[in-house]
Amino acid sequence: MLEVADLRVRYGNLEVVHGISFRAEKGKVTAVLGGNGAGKTTVLKAVMGLVPASAGSVTLGAVQLKGKPAHEVARLGLAMCPEGRQVFPEMSVHENLLMGAYLRGDPSAIRADLEEMFQRFPRLRERRLQLAGTLSGGEQEMLAIARALMARPQLLLLDEPSWGLAPIIVDEVAQAIRDISQTGTTILLVEQNVQMALDLAVYAYVLETGEVVMQGSNEELMSNSYVQNAYLGV
Ligand SMILES: Nc1ncnc2c1ncn2[C@@H]1O[C@H](COP(=O)(O)OP(=O)(O)OP(=O)(O)O)[C@@H](O)[C@H]1O
Ligand SMILES: [Mg+2]
Repeated sequence: MLEVADLRVRYGNLEVVHGISFRAEKGKVTAVLGGNGAGKTTVLKAVMGLVPASAGSVTLGAVQLKGKPAHEVARLGLAMCPEGRQVFPEMSVHENLLMGAYLRGDPSAIRADLEEMFQRFPRLRERRLQLAGTLSGGEQEMLAIARALMARPQLLLLDEPSWGLAPIIVDEVAQAIRDISQTGTTILLVEQNVQMALDLAVYAYVLETGEVVMQGSNEELMSNSYVQNAYLGV
């Protein structure tokens, strides 16, 4: 469904993504793994149209996304859950969720989707009037995911959802991602938590200093000695 080919991204004169290719299969979780500064966020931003790609192509089905601004990419069915959550701290949970639906003009369907989010994340229902900035990290992550889902994306981009969360909360977030995937939403998951990501993903790419250095099925990567040493602490 999403196909990225020979993608290059630069900030000013400095190229940080050096011609990478990957694909995200429809209805599956695909992971992009890598350490700090590898270029993971940059890749997601380039897919979303938040930073320009200097070369390569980004296609969703037959549609070329490269060169399109983020609002158009969003209209075509992509939503991103950004690094660090970036919920609107001074808005309530309810208002944050409505912000996720800002491109839609179908009030009754939006109401139904709100209800669905509250069913999926009961803790958000309990806290629907609470200011988002006062939620715990795990609750903010759930809110950020739910807000992205309110756009009804075909493809959900998740930037380090496990960041800063205790292991038990990481498990909860992972379960939520699994459930969302099982409803048919395609997911591109960026993670430094390789164990979590490989538990969820069918296929993964390892990114180092802006290049894909390895790729394979979750089983292939899990049993790969380089991945075990460098990323799984085995
Ligand atoms: N706006 C920017 N201007 C200049 N350089 C940038 C900018 N954003 C990121 N970079 C650089 O691009 C490289 C890749 O950064 P990026 O944020 O994509 O990495 P990352 O893999 O997401 O890292 P992390 O795991 O720490 O979030 C880094 O060297 C970073 O300093
Ligand atoms: Mg990042």
